[in-house]
Amino acid sequence: MEPSATVADWETVFGRRAPLVLEVGSGSGEATAAIAEQTPDCDCVVLETYKPGIGMLMNALAAREIHNVRIVCADCAEYMPRMFAENSLAVVRVFFPDPWPKRRHHKRRLINEEFAAEIARVLAKGGIAHFATDDEGYAAEIARVAEGGFFARAAEKQFAAQKTMRETTPSRFALRAAAAGRKTKDLIYERI
Ligand SMILES: C[S@@+](CC[C@H](N)C(=O)[O-])C[C@H]1O[C@@H](n2cnc3c(N)ncnc32)[C@H](O)[C@@H]1O
Repeated sequence: MEPSATVADWETVFGRRAPLVLEVGSGSGEATAAIAEQTPDCDCVVLETYKPGIGMLMNALAAREIHNVRIVCADCAEYMPRMFAENSLAVVRVFFPDPWPKRRHHKRRLINEEFAAEIARVLAKGGIAHFATDDEGYAAEIARVAEGGFFARAAEKQFAAQKTMRETTPSRFALRAAAAGRKTKDLIYERI
């Protein structure tokens, strides 16, 4: 769907009222399609800028008749604040955000204090923020910004459920990390 400058009426977009999930940076969308298939009672919005990946995800959704995903081709920094009301989301997922491993490029990383505050704004109280990365330094940085006030570490049961879901629906970058022998860290928080 088209990016919009104002808050979208997601109930109208999906034609129902259901827990709303936002995935930022779906890449080629393998995990997105698999999770949507396994969670038919949730609606998922994707913000992604990578058009070939969006095409792959659209093809997968059509082929598998998955109807609970909408894709917005847009920069999350610009459109998350515009398209989502505060306290409106049940889950925000960011799997394998670009690590920008060189120190001089760290400022390009997506997850920083400002972005954590934006996730906190859109998540309902008790909502889940789930990050995954195979970059140890980035994982530490994500933990630092997430634990700066808006979030608490998810309870063990919630943590295990989210982690298992991610591990059993591997994204392209999850598979790439595993193939290279890199460990993936899940950082899963509850909005307080
Ligand atoms: C390293 S890839 C990971 C893709 C996928 N999550 C996976 O695990 O395979 C990061 C993705 O984030 C997307 N991305 C980066 N910055 C973004 C932004 N500001 N808004 C939306 N998507 C973004 C990129 O286009 C890319 O597809």
